[in-house]
Amino acid sequence: MSAIKKQSIRERARSAMKSAYYSPAVRTVAFGPLDAFDRLRGRRDPLVPPRRLQYVGRREDFAAVGADWRDRLIRDQGIGPGSDVLDIGSGIGRVAVALVPELTEGSYEGFDIVPGFIDWCSREITPRHPSFRFRLADVRNRQYNPRGGVPPAEYRFPFGDDGFDAALAASVFTHMEPNGVRRYLEEAHRVLRPGAELVCTFFLVDEEAERLLAAAGPAFSLDHRLVDAEGAPYLAADARVPEFCVGILEPQLIAAAADVGFEVAGIERGWWSGREVGPGAPYQDVVTLRKPGG
Ligand SMILES: C[S@@+](CC[C@H](N)C(=O)[O-])C[C@H]1O[C@@H](n2cnc3c(N)ncnc32)[C@H](O)[C@@H]1O
Repeated sequence: MSAIKKQSIRERARSAMKSAYYSPAVRTVAFGPLDAFDRLRGRRDPLVPPRRLQYVGRREDFAAVGADWRDRLIRDQGIGPGSDVLDIGSGIGRVAVALVPELTEGSYEGFDIVPGFIDWCSREITPRHPSFRFRLADVRNRQYNPRGGVPPAEYRFPFGDDGFDAALAASVFTHMEPNGVRRYLEEAHRVLRPGAELVCTFFLVDEEAERLLAAAGPAFSLDHRLVDAEGAPYLAADARVPEFCVGILEPQLIAAAADVGFEVAGIERGWWSGREVGPGAPYQDVVTLRKPGG
């Protein structure tokens, strides 16, 4: 069997395993009994999601990751008790739960494309903390919502103009093609107040990242050079389900951000590509975009 054929079989198997990992039906069968056991034993904090929904990162990191984002939003975006915060791709409420004690007079709006995530957050968080609200966006994504009705590049955020003091997209643009990212930047710019910032994470591919990736071998791969529906190039780890892991070309991101009217307030490099970064650096690259004015 040729090496190419072997690689393709391996990649197919990997895709199938990942798809199963992200399938709500498979997860319910695999983790439902353990979740039921936890419930019966009274072992679960009501603001920590059950195991079947814990696939946006390591289960053990739920509280720590949320706390990191909360601290960053307070320190760098200056959010306080009265702020209005938007969480784009709010997942299973990691950031929401961490923000509950902070946003005592303001509001939190989260939206996501996975019905089970939004159901859980709306059922467990909103009744306890009514200023925290969650909405389902029926947006298509081959990893998270393969049957979604709306392409990301056509989605309009369900909020009016100029309504938020800060927005976050944590580990969301790492699962979207460039045309969707561009649309989300436009929408974030529209809904932020002048002077407010969007904090978003990427696998941002510049020359150094390309070089490191080439040298890294299979440790972290973004092997596939693909193009989105508008012909914009990007990198992906999996050609069948590109949204598993997307690398955005840095010059393209900078141009898109400027085009929609953002100023780049900062890029903090992460260590995902093997780049040498200081202690405490994030895993993904963190980009801060400011809407001018205010
Ligand atoms: C790795 S998880 C991160 C979740 C959350 N931001 C956090 O840090 O806990 C990626 C999230 O992005 C969501 N997502 C992917 N594409 C999206 C889109 N087009 N619009 C909104 N959310 C999206 C997924 O459903 C998933 O919840």
